[in-house]
Amino acid sequence: MSFDRVIRHGRVVTPGGSFTGDVGIRGEKIAALGADLDCEGADVIDATDHYVIPGVLDVHVHLALPFCGTVSSDDYRTGTRAGARGGVTTIIDFAIPYAGESLSEAADNWLAKADGEALIDYTFHICVTRWDDHRDQIKAMVDRGFPTFKEFMIYASEGWQSDDRALFGTLEKMREYGAMLLVHAESSRVLDELIARHHTPELMQRYGARLHPMTRPNFVEAEAIQRAVCWCEATGGPLYIVHMSTGEGADIIRSAQHRGVPVLAETCVQYLVLDDSVFEREDGHLFACCPQLKKPKDMARLWDGLRHGEVSVISTDTCTFTRVQKAMWEGDWTKIPMGMPGLETLLPLTYTRGVLGGHLTLEEMCTKLSTNPARIMGLAPRKGGITVGADADLAIIHPTKTHRVDPATMETNADWSPYEGWELAGFSRTTLSRGEVIVDEYRVVGREGRGQWLPRITAGQPAEPTTKDIAGAAA
Ligand code: URP
Ligand code: ZN
Ligand code: ZN
Repeated sequence: MSFDRVIRHGRVVTPGGSFTGDVGIRGEKIAALGADLDCEGADVIDATDHYVIPGVLDVHVHLALPFCGTVSSDDYRTGTRAGARGGVTTIIDFAIPYAGESLSEAADNWLAKADGEALIDYTFHICVTRWDDHRDQIKAMVDRGFPTFKEFMIYASEGWQSDDRALFGTLEKMREYGAMLLVHAESSRVLDELIARHHTPELMQRYGARLHPMTRPNFVEAEAIQRAVCWCEATGGPLYIVHMSTGEGADIIRSAQHRGVPVLAETCVQYLVLDDSVFEREDGHLFACCPQLKKPKDMARLWDGLRHGEVSVISTDTCTFTRVQKAMWEGDWTKIPMGMPGLETLLPLTYTRGVLGGHLTLEEMCTKLSTNPARIMGLAPRKGGITVGADADLAIIHPTKTHRVDPATMETNADWSPYEGWELAGFSRTTLSRGEVIVDEYRVVGREGRGQWLPRITAGQPAEPTTKDIAGAAA
């Protein structure tokens, strides 16, 4: 059997287990796994003393998003280059209708943003923002290859907010169409009340950006997750809680899953490695995101949830704003553009803090970053695992070699990083996307515009790796 490329002598992580050996690639696909594959005529990539892991899927990103009175500053060019450097080979963004637009127009807008710019493959969740207008457009979007939808329980000021009627009705449709609803779960009525109570010149002068965590106690997220789970249980429509940040949320998801409720949850890496003490810093406002960073006990509970299974996916919620954009707050925390950069550091942070930190095995990390996101979002078996027939999307990482996080040397458009100065292992030495090397020796070498839109059929598969794909590899 001949190959175009062979990755040799790496520690290869497959959904069925890890082995030391080779990955044979023909065209865009993985053609064989095994020991000492035939390298005659093939381009050989040496992975000795490295891990060969599936390309990461970041299924929660916002690129060039108009939000908070500005536009998030990583676009499809910088965002996908940043992702590639961090071993990310697939992203899922959110197509959000602009005022008065249909779901289909939203998808067209986001396809246009990505076209000719993206270095890696991509697709979108479709945001239902005006239930009465959008309800009858959902089926056509599923037929067009978009089986995941999103509703926000907050953000009335952006025109994005959904009420319980919309959540309930959308979940009914998800069940009918084999689709899945993603929900940003924060309780808007109580949140707005707490913000209004604190929005005084005296308190802003005294507490500054600390008012952001002060006005979002954990019950703001927990009550909203509980309510969304209630509608999920009542309708049987598959639900996926995005960017879950609280221990209480993990408890709710765990008990719902034990009752057989079709709900899944993602957390973001920032909720695993940062806590709200960052708001004490002079530049604490930079860290404002929704939901906001929580307490060390929440971080610990989310790590446990990943290991036990109630948290299925780690993503980033990348929504990059520069220092100049963040400065729009001028002392009023309600005006801070909400979000942080993340694509470039997802894998290094999860590997360094998760695997080297003893929270996850290497295989569990790959399940949470690749296998589960691909299965849940309807991209498996094409994406998410090193298996014969899958796209040759791979990251090759060194077990211990570290790089210092320095925005000046990064691909992101951000001029700051929440992790500035951190020494992280797990940056991708070599990233392959559909068989093509797009990162070599830690530097992006692929050309933008090569990334492809990924049509999907269904979504919401349960999150479990299979064990049958090791394909003759030596243990
Ligand atoms: O702060 C955040 N997360 N910005 C992006 C919008 C969202 O809620 O996901
Ligand atoms: Zn959100
Ligand atoms: Zn988001």
